[in-house]
Amino acid sequence: MDEKEIIKKLEKYNQPRLINILNKVDNKTKKEIIEELSEINLKEIERLYENIKDTVEVDIGELKPVKSINPDKLTKEQYEEFENAGIDVLKNNKFAVIIMAGGEGTRLGFNGPKGTFKIDVEPKPKYLFEIMADSIQRANKKYDITIPWYIMTSEKNNDEIVSFMEEHNYFGYPKDFVGFFKQGELPLITEDGQIVLDENYKIRKAADGNGSVFKSMRERGVIEDMKEKGIEWVYIGQIDNILLKMVDTLLLGVAIKEGSEIATRSVFKDFPRERMGTLCLKNGNVKVIEYSEIPEDMIEAKNENGEMLFGESNITCNLFSLKAIEKISLKDLPYHKAHKRYNYLDENCKICEPEEPNAYKFEYFIFDSFEYFNQISVVRGKREEDFAPVKNKEGVQSPETAAKLYNDYWRRHADERM
Ligand code: UD1
Repeated sequence: MDEKEIIKKLEKYNQPRLINILNKVDNKTKKEIIEELSEINLKEIERLYENIKDTVEVDIGELKPVKSINPDKLTKEQYEEFENAGIDVLKNNKFAVIIMAGGEGTRLGFNGPKGTFKIDVEPKPKYLFEIMADSIQRANKKYDITIPWYIMTSEKNNDEIVSFMEEHNYFGYPKDFVGFFKQGELPLITEDGQIVLDENYKIRKAADGNGSVFKSMRERGVIEDMKEKGIEWVYIGQIDNILLKMVDTLLLGVAIKEGSEIATRSVFKDFPRERMGTLCLKNGNVKVIEYSEIPEDMIEAKNENGEMLFGESNITCNLFSLKAIEKISLKDLPYHKAHKRYNYLDENCKICEPEEPNAYKFEYFIFDSFEYFNQISVVRGKREEDFAPVKNKEGVQSPETAAKLYNDYWRRHADERM
């Protein structure tokens, strides 16, 4: 696009600050900004701005607790029936896994992609990617298969992750079975809807959330690749749960037997304010309300026995049929916004360093995809078996608490170690 066209577009989509900046900079900078702007969908910026004004209203009257399958309550026969259905999918090479590793992991205070963080577990410290590789390798060995493993990265961390995996020889995982794909980015915008330029005259963008996985899989050819491989089921998990069991044959079997296109593992909250997405039913459909958006009355709600009514929580252990992924990949998931503080260039090309949040970052959430499905299976997991998150530098959900859960787990399951 040339300068005239860009200015016309900026006028149409109400971006006076950028027009002012373009009028003040030298030709080289102008050319660079125009090049970057040509890649930006300004109509989407308008949609983002509309979203700023929306407030998320959650009406607890419309919500009910979700029903989950508790594996402890299944008979041996039921359990085996589910497991066998799951194992059948594995043995027929119809299963793949994705690790989402595009997040920034700011809370951990680690300067690098989270998967390259080394955690002090027994008997020797391991990288998070190494723990994931070991976990899939164990299943490969047990079922005599090689599961295709995909890693979702971001624009910012892709190169670092790819070189890290190369350097560590994929932690012994067969290289031909590992694929990387980048998720998208969305521009930040200020409270008055203006695109943000940083001190280098670059448009400030951020990874567009883990719900980007579906669209990114389509755009980067991952769905096609999986189809060619005959994949029918895909487990999508997060990098920072070191007890993540991607090859979850029970979950797989439950999805198949219940005829669900999506199945998810939950755990029960330890305390009402625990920072976890809450699973519930809205109009009979499974939904997750994120911890940042949960209303007070939902946190406090109790059942007739005085127990937490909405305790079933999301641990981002999700299984999708490839058909479901394809369907979701064509939808526009809603945006969720986070109000943050960012330095920006004002209309006089002066860098401003606000002290209060001044701009919004936008993300898609993976669980918003649930709304397109009437039937989703929920299987209750156990904290000590399924969930050891590495989120915060210290305190709850920190490397220290996760390592303890991991070590205890492997003491109980020593016979399953490779
Ligand atoms: C997430 C869940 C929350 C759940 C909690 C459990 C979402 C939106 N929220 O919260 O409901 O209770 O985990 O641990 O899923 N990621 C990307 N790209 C991004 C952003 C994130 O790949 O743009 C990945 C991260 O690398 C990580 C996962 O998504 O693997 C979770 O992201 P994070 O932002 O840490 O979510 P939480 O706030 O912990």
